[in-house]
Amino acid sequence: MTDFVLQITDWYRQNARDLPWRRTKNAYFIWLSEVILQQTRVDQGMNYYLRFVDEFPTVTHLANADEEQVLKLWQGLGYYSRARNLHKTAKEVVERFNGEFPASHAELLSLKGIGPYTAAAIASFAFDLPHAVVDGNVYRVLSRYFGIDTPIDSTGGKKEFQLLADSLIPAAMPALFNQSVMEFGALYCTPANPNCESCIVRSSCPSGNGLYRSRPVKGKKTAVRDRYFHYFHIEENGTLLVRKRDFKDVWHNLYEFPMIETEGPELTEEQLAVFGLKTEQLIEQLSAKHVLSHQRIHAAFYRVSKPKMDAFEQFIKVDNEGLHKLPVHRLMSRYMEISGL
Ligand code: ADE
Repeated sequence: MTDFVLQITDWYRQNARDLPWRRTKNAYFIWLSEVILQQTRVDQGMNYYLRFVDEFPTVTHLANADEEQVLKLWQGLGYYSRARNLHKTAKEVVERFNGEFPASHAELLSLKGIGPYTAAAIASFAFDLPHAVVDGNVYRVLSRYFGIDTPIDSTGGKKEFQLLADSLIPAAMPALFNQSVMEFGALYCTPANPNCESCIVRSSCPSGNGLYRSRPVKGKKTAVRDRYFHYFHIEENGTLLVRKRDFKDVWHNLYEFPMIETEGPELTEEQLAVFGLKTEQLIEQLSAKHVLSHQRIHAAFYRVSKPKMDAFEQFIKVDNEGLHKLPVHRLMSRYMEISGL
C-alpha cells in the first residue's frame, strides 16, 4: 500500500463524520444516499435521506410509489431528473433482480439509471468489492496530490483518473479507501482555501504553494442560456390554476402556474393576448433568478386581476391545500411562500 493510501485512511479514521449511510451495508440505502448526494451537500441531503428511508424502507416500497409522491418528497433538492431516475431504477431492480440490488459491479452498471460512479459506490460500500469511486472530490484530491493536469471533463481525463484510483484502491479495504478520499476532499482538500500549511500529505504534494488553485483542470466552459418565464397567479373564489410540465424540458412533471416564455425580459400585449390578458391586469409580485447547470431562468410572477377564466380551460383547478400537495419547482415554492399561498 502506498504512503498516500495509509495517510489518507489514517486521517479518515480520526476525522470522518458519522453519517447514517456509512453505518449500513444495505445496498438500497447506500444507493439512495449516493443519488441524493450527487449534487447536494451532506448537511442539506441528510434530511432527505432520512425521509426517503422512512417513507420507502425497501426498494420495493419505492418502486410501488407514484412518481408524484417521489417528486414531492424530493421537492427542494433540485435536479429532478435524479428523482425520476431513482424511481425508474427502483422499478428495474424489482423487475430484474427481485428487489435485491445485484452484488456485482457489472450487473449494477447494467441498470439503466446507474453509472460508473454509483456502481462503484454500491459495489465497494455494500459488497466490499475493489471498485474506486471518482467524484468531484476524488478528481480534486488526486489531481492535486499526483500533479495531473489532464482535463477532468475529457474522455482521456476520465479514464486516467479512474485508472489511477483503481490502481490505488487496496483490495482488503475498498470501502475505507473510497470514503477516505471523498471525505478528505470534502473536508480538507477543499476547492477554495485548502489548508495546505498543516496538511497531512504536504511533504509529498506538488500543489501546495498555490498550485492547488489550478487543479483540477477543466477543459470546456459550459454555455449558459438565458430564459425568461412569466407566471400568472390566477385565483378566483379560492381556486387556483396550474398545469403539469408534462413535456420534455426543465422540471419535467412538476406543477406550475400558467406561464408564457419570452425571448427577452419584455412581455408584450400580443403575447398576453394568448390568455386574453392585458398589461393593466397584471401586478408584478416577484422577480427571481434561478440558475441551473445550463440555464439561467429569469422569472416574473404576476397577480392577475379579473381574468377571463374561459381562456384557461386547459388548466387544472386546485384549492390552496391541493396546490400544497403537488410537487412544484423552487420558483413556485418561493412564490407560494412570499405571497402567503
Ligand atoms: N458524497 C457522495 N458520497 C458521499 C458519501 N458516501 N459520504 C459523504 N459524502 C458523499
